[in-house]
Amino acid sequence: MNSIEVKSLTKKFGSFTSVNDISFEVREGEVFGFLGSNGAGKSTTIKMLCGILAPTSGDALVGGFSINKDTDLVKRNIGYMSQKFSLYNDLTVSENINFFGGIYGLFGNKLEERKSWVIRIADLYGKEEHLTSSLAVGFKQRLALGCAVIHEPQIVFLDEPTGGVDPVSRRKFWDLINELSDKGITVFVTTHYLDEAEFCNRIILINGGKLIASGSPKELKEEYIKNPVYEIDCSDIYKAVKVLENGLFTDNVTIFGNSIHVSLKSSPEFKVNQPENDIEMLNVFLEKENGLKVLRIQKISPSLEDVFVHLIESKK
Ligand SMILES: Nc1ncnc2c1ncn2[C@@H]1O[C@H](COP(=O)(O)OP(=O)(O)O)[C@@H](O)[C@H]1O
Ligand SMILES: [Mg+2]
Repeated sequence: MNSIEVKSLTKKFGSFTSVNDISFEVREGEVFGFLGSNGAGKSTTIKMLCGILAPTSGDALVGGFSINKDTDLVKRNIGYMSQKFSLYNDLTVSENINFFGGIYGLFGNKLEERKSWVIRIADLYGKEEHLTSSLAVGFKQRLALGCAVIHEPQIVFLDEPTGGVDPVSRRKFWDLINELSDKGITVFVTTHYLDEAEFCNRIILINGGKLIASGSPKELKEEYIKNPVYEIDCSDIYKAVKVLENGLFTDNVTIFGNSIHVSLKSSPEFKVNQPENDIEMLNVFLEKENGLKVLRIQKISPSLEDVFVHLIESKK
């Protein structure tokens, strides 16, 4: 069963096309990652799917309701956590939960029950009367998520929920996402952290408003990275990148932190089918032919970052 079906969705602001004719489906209960760099069109798409922004053309069914025709029903049946999450900083934790519960018509025992749940998942036991402004960002994010799903929607949209937090809080937040998904809730999450995309069941990538790839992380790697990828640590990595880019046997060359990732062309004349030969060849090329000092060369499994770089580069 699909919980979201998007058909040729387009949004124009004047003559500028922010989201350009995208179509995709999201299955019930999956964690669906919506990836793209800043300005790719992620927030614009989410706002349309939440019934906040009218599309220029196209339509989507969210939980079976059309975003054009049944906008109110869409809004009532989803949870939405915006990029600048919508908590009130000058209210206490408890007041924020009461406020959001009230918007969704919760009161009495039901509200108390949901409130305990939010306090538990946000790790805020004993801090109910603290001002929201005094909380660390990681706590605020979990509180915002709790408030966004206080009415137990079957679909929740999270727009870059982990922006600007430390890795431990990010991991805790992802534990919560998985907890929701285990209950059968569909989680639609945007991010530009590619390591987070690895936790999603399926992802789509958009660039400049256009959908450029979709599939599970494994499918995307198999489809787009056919040739072996090597990680190289060496002296003068900028020089190394330059010479590798000009090498006849290399395909993609990218800097990752202090290392270089290089994928090789699969042409047999370069004997790249056996790792020993590849490593030997890269060693000779960098050390003997270009005077660099190689510290380490290792074959690696491609990451989604490799896929993304490959896709974006090939669209230029
Ligand atoms: N209300 C608006 N008016 C004009 N341009 C907009 C508006 N909202 C977004 N845009 C433009 O649409 C593009 C996509 O924006 P957005 O969806 O926020 O990207 P993302 O969330 O992927 O960073 C950007 O170039 C942005 O400047
Ligand atoms: Mg955004």
